[in-house]
Amino acid sequence: MLIALGVTGGIGAYKAVEVARGLQKHGHEVVAVMTHSATRFVGPVTFEAITRRPVITDQFAEGMNADIEHIAIASTIDLLLIAPATANIIGKLANGIADDFLSTLYTATRAPVLIAPAMNSQMFAHAAVRKNLDTLVARGARFVEPGEGYLACGWIGKGRLAEPDEIIAAAEEILRPESPLRGQRVLVTAGPTYEDFDPVRFIGNRSSGKMGFALAAEAAHRGAEVSLIVGPTELEPPSVREVVRVRTASEMHQAVMSRASDMHVVIMAAAVADYMPERAPQKVPKGADTLTLVLHKTPDILGDLGHRRLASGRGPALIGFAAETQDVVARAIEKRAKKHVDLIVANDVARTDAGFDVDTNAVTIVTADGAESLPLQSKTNVAGEILNRVERLLSGSRSAESASPVRG
Ligand code: CTP
Repeated sequence: MLIALGVTGGIGAYKAVEVARGLQKHGHEVVAVMTHSATRFVGPVTFEAITRRPVITDQFAEGMNADIEHIAIASTIDLLLIAPATANIIGKLANGIADDFLSTLYTATRAPVLIAPAMNSQMFAHAAVRKNLDTLVARGARFVEPGEGYLACGWIGKGRLAEPDEIIAAAEEILRPESPLRGQRVLVTAGPTYEDFDPVRFIGNRSSGKMGFALAAEAAHRGAEVSLIVGPTELEPPSVREVVRVRTASEMHQAVMSRASDMHVVIMAAAVADYMPERAPQKVPKGADTLTLVLHKTPDILGDLGHRRLASGRGPALIGFAAETQDVVARAIEKRAKKHVDLIVANDVARTDAGFDVDTNAVTIVTADGAESLPLQSKTNVAGEILNRVERLLSGSRSAESASPVRG
């Protein structure tokens, strides 16, 4: 997609550089349009180097007007994003003043408009600015609210340009075609489980929850209503509709099973313990040279969901993970069949750059259509790839045991 990034003269202009880079990372092309005062904060060369396109700084700059692309930009862009937007540009846009390239572009384009205001908090609260913002909202412009905090002018209050990540996410939301996940209830499990064998000790695993968190965040980003069931982890979960903290496999089983029938999709990304020790009521004292723990099988959450769906003929789309250290794909194919699930994400946890507690993952996605290996990439990107396939499942209802996910 082609995005015109309008940059106006505020101290936050430097953050627009990061916004441009982020948009490019999401696969978009960016053309920067700077007002005269913006060029006093950041040099156009910076944007030119990053966007690899000429930066439009002046409506009538010599040498620019033969450039058809620059003239045609109003009809070719998919989004006009202005970050930071000063009170001045907001006033001009609201009142149809078109005295420079950016304000002219606003009146000339029919592309969606996204505005990230940044100004002194008193200015932001001023009736004139509020009225202009209301006018733009009524006309369909969308906004990324400024943040609160220290402002360059020394005031503390609302007015600081939103963080680049928030601006990029808001742009993505506008540009992304409507996802089949919008409005769907998605349950994601994440992290390890801890199985206590006395009041102070437990058996756990090295899962950090990162993959499940990335899936939950991405599903929410696509408009799903996400319930996240999370085992013990230090990491902060993303803010989704519901976060439920559990400790053991049995607690996770209870939390998942009690919600599953309301869900359209269940993604079991948690590393659930397969066995739990018998729990001693008191701390086990040091005694003999060896200590034997008796372990009992935990409930297989995904297996139970699969069997329940098979028996009833209805239930959510089921996504599982297969953490393996050998014969990764063959074992994943087996697990998919055994647990009666739609899609298994297989990962080789023996690799140091994939699997537990790292930010990257290399997975093979196993569906009824076969196995597809994806290259090593960030867990956020892997989450996107997995959800693209979940979207296909929801649209096509191609599921393991011919049971279609519950709808509505
Ligand atoms: N899983 C589950 N309940 C368990 C164990 C695992 O729901 N008690 C889920 C995991 O969240 C994962 C999938 O089942 O989505 C496969 O987990 P994995 O540990 O790879 O497989 P297991 O069934 O435990 O088999 P094994 O340990 O023999 O590989």
